[in-house]
Amino acid sequence: MTKDEFETLLVHGACGTDEAAGALTVPIYQTTTYRQGELGVEPPFDYSRSANPTRDVLERQIALLEEGTHGYAFSSGMAAITALFCLFETGDEILIPRDLYGGSYRLLDEHFKNFGLTWRIADTQDEQSLGSSFSSRTKALLLETPTNPLLRVSDIEAVSRVAHAHGAIVIADNTFMSPYLQRPLVLGADIVVHSATKYIGGHNDVLAGLVALKDEKLGERFRAVQKSTGGVLGPFDSYLLLRGLKTLALRMDRETENAAAIAEWLSCREGVDRVYYPGLESDPGYRVQSKQASGAGGLLSFDLNEAYPVKAFFRALSLFTPAESLGSVESMACHPFTMSHASIPPEVKAEMGISERLVRLAIGIESVSSLKEDLDNAFASARAEVSQAAARAVI
Ligand SMILES: Cc1ncc(COP(=O)(O)O)c(C=O)c1O
Repeated sequence: MTKDEFETLLVHGACGTDEAAGALTVPIYQTTTYRQGELGVEPPFDYSRSANPTRDVLERQIALLEEGTHGYAFSSGMAAITALFCLFETGDEILIPRDLYGGSYRLLDEHFKNFGLTWRIADTQDEQSLGSSFSSRTKALLLETPTNPLLRVSDIEAVSRVAHAHGAIVIADNTFMSPYLQRPLVLGADIVVHSATKYIGGHNDVLAGLVALKDEKLGERFRAVQKSTGGVLGPFDSYLLLRGLKTLALRMDRETENAAAIAEWLSCREGVDRVYYPGLESDPGYRVQSKQASGAGGLLSFDLNEAYPVKAFFRALSLFTPAESLGSVESMACHPFTMSHASIPPEVKAEMGISERLVRLAIGIESVSSLKEDLDNAFASARAEVSQAAARAVI
């Protein structure tokens, strides 16, 4: 699908025209149940856990946007991932990257482990050695690219080829890219999952998860899982996501443009030891990212130099809100060590490359000059705090 086709699909796609009143906006069908007709004739909608007309439009829309055949909407990204893990059986194994989203790791390690679904870490950046990670029990590989918070990139096409050769499916968590920048199903993945709470919703006002897949048999099996587990998205939240999707291209273009400018600016700025952003030519993930995605997105991280106290830096931020989430129109700053990755033991964090000096920025749509000004001010305040402390020590 071309960029032009995708952009038009975002606005129209599955939305169509409302048959009942001709409404331009998809109506919110705030109902749990539906009048049934002739006994024994299956109606299109019977109970909203199985299907709801507003959710149905959203589910068809995500399938279209990811170039899949089936779409499913859940009440959160984790509800979607929980339902995906329900596709597996006792004795099955899932391969995961080292820096998998902490919530997905916790779900496997603290809950599904109890039902005999096991996990193992694999290096998805090294396709040469990846094959040796598979066993006869490996049924899936859960991929995230780029990863959070170090923006490490894996080659979806190459990883999918290796997984398929070992009889496993690939589940790609496409949260950080959205279908606008990257479409894993086209690159070989079997299932795509999103925390739609992030870029798809885009306004920090809805918690949601979306799944798209392209295999008829797997799609129907998953429909049954969705109905049985029941963590579905409500009609109003489905409407909010449909609304958010209409501006996805505009938002992501602006966020990517802002992030690229800030990454360039930070990489030659005093006070920054290293920038992690696969849109920078110097980044190890640049080549693969440029091949498989049409942009590097709005997320970047950097190591703050030790001459700049991290707490003082965060305290001085004003436009950047210190917050856990990302993907919204507002810029946010996260300290992975104490926030998003707080529950991971320090030695594991060290192994993963997540130091106390790491700062993650989720770039919004504000003017890039005001964002730089805010960061400049935070660098200056952090530095001033050190000078004041030194002066006090002398006195
Ligand atoms: C990559 C990724 N996947 C899944 C999730 C879980 O999504 P949610 O918070 O919508 O349940 C998150 C949340 O931050 C995430 O970053």
